[in-house]
Amino acid sequence: MKIVKTAKEVREIIKEWKREGYEIGLVPTMGYLHEGHKSLIDRSVKENDKTVVSIFVNPTQFGPGEDLESYPRDLDRDAALVEEAGADLIFHPEAEEMYAEDFCTFVDMERLTKGLCGKTRPIHFRGVCTVVSKLFHIASPDRAYFGQKDAQQLAVIRRMVRDLNFGIEIVGCPIVREEDGLAKSSRNTYLSKEERQAALILSKAIFLGEQMIRDGETDAEKVKSAMIGTIESEPLAKIDYVELVDWGTLEPVQTVRGSVLGAIAVYIGTTRLIDNFLSVRE
Ligand code: PAJ
Repeated sequence: MKIVKTAKEVREIIKEWKREGYEIGLVPTMGYLHEGHKSLIDRSVKENDKTVVSIFVNPTQFGPGEDLESYPRDLDRDAALVEEAGADLIFHPEAEEMYAEDFCTFVDMERLTKGLCGKTRPIHFRGVCTVVSKLFHIASPDRAYFGQKDAQQLAVIRRMVRDLNFGIEIVGCPIVREEDGLAKSSRNTYLSKEERQAALILSKAIFLGEQMIRDGETDAEKVKSAMIGTIESEPLAKIDYVELVDWGTLEPVQTVRGSVLGAIAVYIGTTRLIDNFLSVRE
């Protein structure tokens, strides 16, 4: 497995692979890889001849005061995990490689990016769409793999690919959790022992909402209230949002029908964590 730092090197390798007729899978990440990332890599390795994993903490998707500087990094450990999983190439650029000093072209999206995480992170999805577009152009994959953990991101990337005719298949992969329910995240490393325990309130609320709907509840307000009540029972938790939205439009729903996304963002101390469930019902 190779690690390269420039877009030019990636292009040369991909060109060679395409000449051989290989199908290529791309797994975009910001590194500090865990089992959630690994599930995406495993799936790509299974479905493609070659798998590229990008590791890049993308500055344009972090707002002022967010955790760009403190975001955890460990390339050696990441490289070992990627190699073990059977991927073929890591693209690990410096910020200067991706963004020239006078960089001024962005991919922006209306609607889907305004609610949920977009409310408190107004420039986040512009950064995500821009960097993912760049990665798609650099690696020109047949398929790209994204986790349901970041459900809004998955919906946004799917829409971008459709709207801008990228011609890449977007594969959504299920949320990987710790044994006690906490969704795996690179940001879980920020949590103290006490906060790690308190963070269980997210998955507790998610499982409760999911179960209420499975048991036949269709009143979105009732489901939301129960989830909010659960989260508020944890003194270290502070709610950013609790929403039930239509999975197609990401607009809030009053009645649960069709595909509904239950999504939450909660601060545990200063760490902002997200979780969600997807309910598909007629
Ligand atoms: P990052 O947070 O590193 O996540 C990379 C991919 O791993 C995303 O598609 C995310 O949804 C998926 N992932 C993370 N935790 C997961 C879990 N517990 N279960 C399943 N999948 C999980 O998301 C980003 O990076 C960036 O925004 C990126 C797309 C790379 C653009 O910079």
